[in-house]
Order: sequence, then C-alpha cells, then structure tokens
Amino acid sequence: MKYARIAGTGGQLPAKVVTNADLEKIVETSHDWIVERTGIHQRHIASDNETTCSLAEQAARKAMSAAGVKGSEIDLIIVATTTPDRIFPSAACLLQQRLDIHGCAAFDVQAVCTGFVYALSIADKFIRTGAASCVLVVGAETLSRILDWTDRKTCVLFGDGAGAVILKASDEPGIISSHLHADGQYKDLLTVNAGVSEHSELLKSGRAFVQMAGNEVFKMAVNTLGDIVDETLSANGLSKADIDWLVPHQANIRIINATAKKLQISMDRVVTTVAHHGNTSAASIPLALDVAVRDGRIKRGETILFEAFGGGFTWGSVLMKF
Ligand code: ACO
Repeated sequence: MKYARIAGTGGQLPAKVVTNADLEKIVETSHDWIVERTGIHQRHIASDNETTCSLAEQAARKAMSAAGVKGSEIDLIIVATTTPDRIFPSAACLLQQRLDIHGCAAFDVQAVCTGFVYALSIADKFIRTGAASCVLVVGAETLSRILDWTDRKTCVLFGDGAGAVILKASDEPGIISSHLHADGQYKDLLTVNAGVSEHSELLKSGRAFVQMAGNEVFKMAVNTLGDIVDETLSANGLSKADIDWLVPHQANIRIINATAKKLQISMDRVVTTVAHHGNTSAASIPLALDVAVRDGRIKRGETILFEAFGGGFTWGSVLMKF
C-alpha cells in the first residue's frame, strides 16, 4: 500500500496588510487588547481584485513548482474553503480552470477552520486506495468578505490567504493517520447564519457575517484539541516526545499555547504564524507549514502533528512524516 507524502508546499497572502493600529481607527479596540487576548499583530486582507481562487492559484503554482509537478500529472484537486468565489462551480473547478488542468476530479470541502485537515485526510484515502497518485490540496479563504467590520469581537481575529500542498504516492511515509470529528449541536456558537436556502435575504443584502460566542468557542477548542492530541498519539502507540513539530490551526496564541502545554512540546517546536496572518481559517495550517518548510525549520523525515478546530463544530488531526 502506498503512503501520501508531501512533495511541495506553497502559500499566498494578499499584499494589503491591516495592522491593529489600523483597526483602532474603525472599531473601539486597542493593539494591546488584541495582542494580549489573541497574539495577533496584523493580518492580510484581499483587495477587490483578489479572490479565494486567485490566492489559491498562486499558492498552488508555488507548491507545484516546489514539487516539480506539472498540471497534467495532477489527478485530483481538493480545495478546503468556506468562502468560495461562487456558489457553483466549486472553487476546485475554478482553480482547475486557472491552472489549465482538464479532466481530473475536483471538489471542495467545507469544514471551516478544520477544512484543510479534512481535505488532507480525504486526499490520503484516495492515494492509499490507489484512486489517485498526485493530489493538489489547497486551503484558501477570503474571510474578510463575511466579516462585520463594525463588530470588534470578530473583525480583529481573521485574515485572508491560501496555502497548498502537492501530495504524491510514495513507498515511504507520508501521512500516518488522520482523525476527524464533528458535532453539529454547536452550530450556533460559530456561524454565518445565512445561505442559499436559509436567510438568503441576509446574503442578498450583504448582511451575512461571522458571529461567534468567543468564550464558549475558546473553552471547547482548548479541551477538544487536548483530546485529539491524546487520540492521535494513542492510535499510533506514540509518546509526546515522538512529535518533532506541532503545526496547529492559527486561531489564537492562547489556544496554541494550551495545546503545546498538553503535548509538553516547547514553543520553539510549534509553528506559529497567527501574529502576522491572523486566523485564515482553512488556509492557516498550509500557510504555516509552507513558512516553516521554506525557512528550513521542518526537514524531511521529521514527524509533524497538524490539528484544528472550527465551526460546526469540526475538529481533527493529521499525523505525518514530512
Ligand atoms: N477590543 C477591545 N475589547 C474587546 C474586543 C476588542 N476587539 N472584543 C471584545 N472586547 C471586550 C468585550 O466586549 C468584553 O467587554 P465587557 O467585559 O465590557 O463585556 C471584554 O472585551 C471581554 O470579552 P471576552 O469575549 O470575554 O474576551 P475573551 O478574553 O474571551 O477574548 C476572544 C475574546 C479573543 C474572541 C476569545 O474568546 C477567543 O479567542 N475565542 C476563541 C475563538 C476563536 O479563536 N475563534 C476563531 C474561529 S474558531 C477557531 O478557529 C478556533
């Protein structure tokens, strides 16, 4: 049986940077409050001519170049996003067209901040069963388009961006295991309460915004991410010391610190980009991975744990050898 191995990574952030000082001018907040509660100093925000798919295209091209893979070799495209360019076709189909790839399967995965972990897990199954041998997996978002820029409780938290990986079939590991969960009973704690089939009037009038019960989300995230660390280690008979790198979803530095503490891993083995990127939802893990691969921190053969928590609620992890 083949393993799914990362052959290349890529990331793309919008050029426009919005600092906490910029936000002080539009909502009642302060740089110190945002840094103390979240660890965020700045975020990148898409301009009018940038979209989820335009960011995804640039990230994908960089990952393909790093992997030395041509479009014609890719036999599956999966895009994790909550903010697709269109209701349909999927972001994956629009990305396929941008990359001039024809005929391979392409679809989106919607698991909010856990989207990339879900997408990676699905891609792994395709490769393990022999249904695909070269998969482009992208996490891409323009969350800024569904933020209420008058709501200080949410607008300070998020940013835009895209991250991508090329996964190739290999005799060597590779993704070792993935663990996915969801519980829809928490649907109202973190939501955009509007869509095509429900409250479409909010969508049509531009009032479809992220709403969040911050405290509840925070507590659930910390507890659940602690549990998923235990689940992943015990499923593989590993101890905490076997993990070389934690690459967590970048929601809040306090959530990341709590997970690192649970894993008893020092913060210099945890990749954090939240200070500069904010929470880019499905894009945050592949963006963080790309940063740490390109600056030489993460090396071939090292063991990485990805973990994420997000709206749904959804949560999950992927353990892999890089
Ligand atoms: N600037 C200044 N004050 C603020 C701001 C702001 N941007 N936002 C809220 N406040 C105020 C509140 O109004 C409140 O004031 P009050 O006491 O007068 O009512 C006070 O600060 C404390 O508010 P809390 O919501 O209790 O603050 P908390 O310490 O919980 O921090 C935060 C809020 C940062 C949102 C935190 O709950 C959090 O990080 N939650 C996790 C949610 C998250 O990360 N979501 C992202 C998506 S899910 C995921 O990816 C994990």
